[in-house]
Amino acid sequence: MDANQAEKRILELKDILWENSRRYYVENAPTMSDFEYDTLMHELEDLESRFPQFRTPDSPTQKVGSDLEAASPKSSRKGKDFARYPHRYPMLSLGNTYSIAEIEDFVRRAERELGRSDFTYSCELKFDGTAICLNYRNGKLFRALTRGDGVIGDDVTDNVRMISNVPQTLKGSGWPDDFEIRGEILMPYESFDRLNEEREAQEEEPFANPRNAASGSLKLTDPQEVGRRGLICTLYHVPAGSVACATHQEVLDAAASWGLPVSPERRTVGSIAEIEEYIDYWDTARKTLPFATDGIVIKINSLALQSSLGYTAKSPRWAVAYKFKAEEALTRLLSIDYQVGRTGAVTPVANLSPVFLSGTMVRRATLNNQDFINQMDIRVGDTVKVVKGGEIIPKIIDVDYSLRPAQSQIPVFPKTCPDCGTPLVKADGEAKWFCPNSDGCPTQIKGKLLHFMSRKAMNIIAGEATVDQLFNLGLVRTPDQLYTLSKNSLLMLEGWKERSAQRFLDSIRESLDVPFERVLHALGIRFVGETTAKSMARHFGSIDALMAATREDLLQVGDIGDVIADSVKDYFADSGHLRMIGNLRNAGLHFSVETAAESSDALSGKTFVVSGTFSVSRDEIKRLIEAAGGRNAGSVSSRTTFLLAGAKPGPEKIKKAEALGVKVIGEEDFFQMLPSGTVSPARQAPQPEPEQELTLFQ
Ligand code: IVH
Repeated sequence: MDANQAEKRILELKDILWENSRRYYVENAPTMSDFEYDTLMHELEDLESRFPQFRTPDSPTQKVGSDLEAASPKSSRKGKDFARYPHRYPMLSLGNTYSIAEIEDFVRRAERELGRSDFTYSCELKFDGTAICLNYRNGKLFRALTRGDGVIGDDVTDNVRMISNVPQTLKGSGWPDDFEIRGEILMPYESFDRLNEEREAQEEEPFANPRNAASGSLKLTDPQEVGRRGLICTLYHVPAGSVACATHQEVLDAAASWGLPVSPERRTVGSIAEIEEYIDYWDTARKTLPFATDGIVIKINSLALQSSLGYTAKSPRWAVAYKFKAEEALTRLLSIDYQVGRTGAVTPVANLSPVFLSGTMVRRATLNNQDFINQMDIRVGDTVKVVKGGEIIPKIIDVDYSLRPAQSQIPVFPKTCPDCGTPLVKADGEAKWFCPNSDGCPTQIKGKLLHFMSRKAMNIIAGEATVDQLFNLGLVRTPDQLYTLSKNSLLMLEGWKERSAQRFLDSIRESLDVPFERVLHALGIRFVGETTAKSMARHFGSIDALMAATREDLLQVGDIGDVIADSVKDYFADSGHLRMIGNLRNAGLHFSVETAAESSDALSGKTFVVSGTFSVSRDEIKRLIEAAGGRNAGSVSSRTTFLLAGAKPGPEKIKKAEALGVKVIGEEDFFQMLPSGTVSPARQAPQPEPEQELTLFQ
């Protein structure tokens, strides 16, 4: 690989890893498995060590992931803005490996660097939850912080107080007056299953795994609800120097004597052979634990030796994690369903003979597309190997052909849509078959509505059953119709009462606050996910500028390539979509980026009449007037302060303004009146993604 290729790949890897790290830590919805993530991280580490000229301080190899939400009050409308405090010592991550040989390398390197081999190791479980830092002052729980970005964390003390095995007060004696201890908040499988059952019953999206459920629960606004979630805490690290002990294990023993929950599974061992024994034992025994673990952590036990080995930018040199590969299981493929998604793509989904995998019962797995089934030669009746990735739906990764029964059936991919019967189509080069009946196929219509209403889009609280009802009664077929619903029409739906109807209408009304980037995501333009929607919103500033963009303009946006550019152009070429956007705009949704600078009272007490065409839409001009505290009026009168005239203004309006002595101003004059920092989005220079604000650890 030459330097050019390396640089390109490094940039690509950094993007992928940052994006997935955000999904993992902030959204609790990772899209890749830990193994995939770690493999890419190791590839990046390797490339950066071979081409150090491309290693930058912002690389994910140099920083820990961050669970802090971007500081946008609107994006965390459902969340709470937790107070944030700096960590006294940075909260670091751990180097990890999936290979025993690399654990041996770790031991040899430590021995070499320390010049001796007569020391012990602490072997511990690697708990798969969300990190927490507890601070006790004078023996009382004072503050609990999440990892945050490693430097600053969210204050979740009120929530942590609700976790039953976290003591409010330390017992015994000898604890430091100001004492910090770190560990993990976990959701045991039993609580996890119960929570997901409840969520499904209430039509809420289930959590993908106990880790996501734990970190989502820890950031709830209601401590009482946190208490009901059945979380537990386990503690495994005390920053060096705070307790007068020689070894890490002694520190944890002391912590246990003060009533703190430390893991009884930890062991002190003296050799590689014993480390391997511990790994072997827990590789199997962990399946009987009531909570999730994803590996083993091996730490040098002596605190003095830890301090002589020190830290890298991201992790201690005195510890390493051995990670277990995702669990696999063999099971029977009973049948295949063909599911139509909101974009019309038809995905084959395997129905499996239920099998227990990584703590949960697995009944379904994705089969991706027809080519995947053909290439793997998967047949109904086969014994298949399933594995859990980052998503809730597990994957089939192998077939045991030796177990194929004589009567196994070759799957027949449908020729017509399983929902509406329209013949399926497949574009050249695409792997998926599509139902082209996007405006008439019930599953697609409902899928688009569900997507529009989903949490990361408009966050309108409703699930599949509600959408079914609204659709079946013909009340809502396209998202804009949600905004015309009345309470009376909702009360016609079976099981709906005054309160549920009002809650639904409130939720629809609140969605008017959702920022433009999420509205854009909600439209469901093919291939435009959350990240692309954000980039487009920032780049173009408004839907008008986006609709006016040429293919070349679109390709200027960082993460837009040919496929997305074509899809965006196709979307806006559809008159039905334009009509719907017009209706949504009239309903009051945000169709442009609102900057803080726009909200002011610069135009307070001033009434504008807007006429003619401008470099941005008239609606956008009107929105800017209102954001700055002004008023819009439809016709010129003595109460009008300004007639804002663009190109080709209405001649009657001009005449009337002149007759009444109303000042006529142009677009430029108007922008001058707005607070500095307000720029017409169409003319705004493309905004770079904000830099991650993280300082490097020494
Ligand atoms: S020690 C300075 N011990 O895994 C190092 N971490 O992937 C402090 N984790 O950041 C960490 N079990 O959140 C340590 N027994 C254990 C652990 C553990 C789980 C977490 C922790 C860490 C992450 C790294």
